[in-house]
Amino acid sequence: MIRRREWLAAAAAACTLPPRAMQAAAPPRRLRATPASVALAGQPALAAWAYEGRVHGPTLRYRRGALLDVELENALPDPTTIHWHGVRVPNAMDGVPHITQPPVAPGERFRYRFTLPDSGTFWYHPHLGTPEQVARGLSGALIVEDEDGPEAEHDWLWLLADWRLDASGRIAEDFYDYMDVSHAGRLGAQVTLNGRSVPGEQQAAPGERVRLRLVNAAPARIFALRFAGATPWVIALDGAPLAQVQALGDTLLPLGPGMRADLILDLPREPGARVTVHDVFGRGERQLATVVADGAPARTGPARTAPRAPAPNPLPEPVPQDAQAETLVLGGGMMSMGGWPDDPLPARLARRLRRMGGAREADPVWSVNGQAHLTHDPAHAPEFEVARGRTVRLTFENRTAWWHPMHLHGHSFRELARNGRPPPGRAWRDTMLVAPRESVEVAFVADNPGDWLIHCHVLEHHAGGMGTRFRVSA
Ligand code: C2O
Ligand code: CU
Repeated sequence: MIRRREWLAAAAAACTLPPRAMQAAAPPRRLRATPASVALAGQPALAAWAYEGRVHGPTLRYRRGALLDVELENALPDPTTIHWHGVRVPNAMDGVPHITQPPVAPGERFRYRFTLPDSGTFWYHPHLGTPEQVARGLSGALIVEDEDGPEAEHDWLWLLADWRLDASGRIAEDFYDYMDVSHAGRLGAQVTLNGRSVPGEQQAAPGERVRLRLVNAAPARIFALRFAGATPWVIALDGAPLAQVQALGDTLLPLGPGMRADLILDLPREPGARVTVHDVFGRGERQLATVVADGAPARTGPARTAPRAPAPNPLPEPVPQDAQAETLVLGGGMMSMGGWPDDPLPARLARRLRRMGGAREADPVWSVNGQAHLTHDPAHAPEFEVARGRTVRLTFENRTAWWHPMHLHGHSFRELARNGRPPPGRAWRDTMLVAPRESVEVAFVADNPGDWLIHCHVLEHHAGGMGTRFRVSA
């Protein structure tokens, strides 16, 4: 009897637990996607799409191992999702419509909830109608702090993007334009750094050390950065710390769409000295930023030594002897060697008419292993399957005349070779810039079960067919 009473008391106490537990658990952080008027790209009030009314969206900051708990609220006229670019999320949190979750319809919500396994600089963006939604302003940074990073007086985020405005100064609505899809993607003449027109200016005291987190959130623009007035060190690429920090020297730092780089920049010790940052392209260059050594020197004594790299992320090391070899041949596009996928003229004309009527779709001009993947229809078989835990040795063979930043979902890969030669450092990456006609080999341990995308992060190329899906068995 007594035991029964005790049990009842315990049960009654337990009944009061859920509400208390719910009070204790913090509510999710809200990310509301809405049309918004923002000061952007030199326009005082540009009609954009924004997270929480801002372009770029709020910078989310966590510690490694922390729980990301974000509720997406869709107040856009179109369905959307959020993809956490570079984060090794559980499959259901990856934000790929129809493959990992249903699209979030206007008026609906979706809660993203997962722990952050790696430190580094990441970003988030929609993965539905991406060429339009990103070009309208939906993107933001996600920073996972390392416990043991290099000491620096400042931690600056530089989110790069570009904007195509029409004659009346609005965001041009020629998304999925055939020329963009079949050439270099949508390039906008207005380049911004943290949403402001370039070149921007920032100050720190002479001799101070700055950690610079660079993110390329542009739909298609490939940046190549040159620093003048100081030589930064590269400490991480795509969030993953390098085994050894590298002085950038006179080499350019390539930053394709989706890619990130963490740098350490020591300001000159002469007051008033300037460091300028340029984007080099073709025969020209554009100044992106000036950093001014402003005020009284922060420190005296000997010059600073090279920073130490942050502690490595717990990424599983590929086992080459046991690798499953897969090749992805990238084909198509204007001026290709292999021609483009079968796309009869009547079909193309019909699509063009639909586009004029407002339909958002691209022509299938790119291919992976001979097939244009316009949508990732879950009914289609994956490109390859791999047993969980096995190493995949992946070769990208670019048979096109264009650059492709190839992005892998759910995993990070190790660079193995470019055109058969091992690259210095063999860095971990999640997005790999593949030059025209280049062949690039990478390897990763397929330890994250589910269906994952591999695609070009020139958003118009992906929409035009350059993407595929693979399966990691449970
Ligand atoms: Cu940054 Cu599949 O995306
Ligand atoms: Cu591409």
